[in-house]
Amino acid sequence: MQTLTITQPDDWHLHVRTGDMLKTVINHTARQCARAIIMPNLQPPVTNVEQAFHYQQEIQQATESQYDFTPLMVLYLTNETSPEDVKKAAEADFVQAFKLYPAGATTNSAQGVTDLQALFPTIAAMEKYDVPLLIHGEVTDADIDIFDRERLFIETKLSLLQKTFPNLRIVLEHVTTKDAVDFVMSASDKIAATITPQHLLYNRNAILVGGIKPHYYCLPILKRETHRLALVEAATSGNSKFFLGTDSAPHLSHLKENSCGCAGCYSAYATIELYAEVFDQANSLDKLEGFASFYGADFYQLPRNNKIITLEKIDWQVPAHYAVAEQQLTPLKAGETLHWKLKV
Ligand code: NCD
Ligand code: ZN
Repeated sequence: MQTLTITQPDDWHLHVRTGDMLKTVINHTARQCARAIIMPNLQPPVTNVEQAFHYQQEIQQATESQYDFTPLMVLYLTNETSPEDVKKAAEADFVQAFKLYPAGATTNSAQGVTDLQALFPTIAAMEKYDVPLLIHGEVTDADIDIFDRERLFIETKLSLLQKTFPNLRIVLEHVTTKDAVDFVMSASDKIAATITPQHLLYNRNAILVGGIKPHYYCLPILKRETHRLALVEAATSGNSKFFLGTDSAPHLSHLKENSCGCAGCYSAYATIELYAEVFDQANSLDKLEGFASFYGADFYQLPRNNKIITLEKIDWQVPAHYAVAEQQLTPLKAGETLHWKLKV
């Protein structure tokens, strides 16, 4: 049997929620990953060090004791976040970064930032204290086409941020376009990007051809095939600016299969298997370890993991759903066959 042994991966972009949902999803990630960057878009959002401390404790309590897993906490940037808040975050070793959600860009982003330039003193403090800024890179203007929102964010907002704060470490999260890939590649080594499994595996036809398929609906939305190909090339190139971030974003099945369905794909149940699928198809399995286990840790200036994991090339069927208390969560690729399996 073909096997692949690599250093244990980390997930540099993950939503785990709270309560019953947290209890289901956190152990899926903890089985695979040593660490994960935990997104702060709860209701209410995690905006300060104290809230992040309590949320980290809740996550640790929900994690089964057999796993050695560290949740890395992130604070949600609002119009009220001050340079003093940034200083406190820099001093808290369990907080890694701030997350910028343009207001209205995605799930639970209502308290996000409405005027980026008004926050420049706060962003200057991030540059000064070397706290990374993680960015949901989409403009939110109602008159801008949903497929153009990432490209326009880069042209109008990210370019300005980069010029104004050349030493700020930035992760452009869940990149979905060739435009984003080109921007990150030509930027300084202070700018990196995460790439999700769904944006590597699918183009926008997955959502719309043969009926509306809500489980492929996430933000930023899937794009054309040319963009998917650019993402696969970036992820499998061995370029250390691109690393693993699933953006696994669980929503109960009935809230996605709805006349106004929620945005987010649930992929954490098979983090490394889904990426292995992509890298195998691209004949680049030798590049998986750098992408999944090295480049993110290096960018965050954290040690690489010591443990190793082994994947076996064997078919297995993804469950139709996972239980969340009495309710259901439908995973990406529900009922389909995956070809790589994590050995436990
Ligand atoms: C995320 C969620 O549900 O929290 N949804 C998504 O489609 N990715 C939010 C986000 O990261 O945009
Ligand atoms: Zn996300």
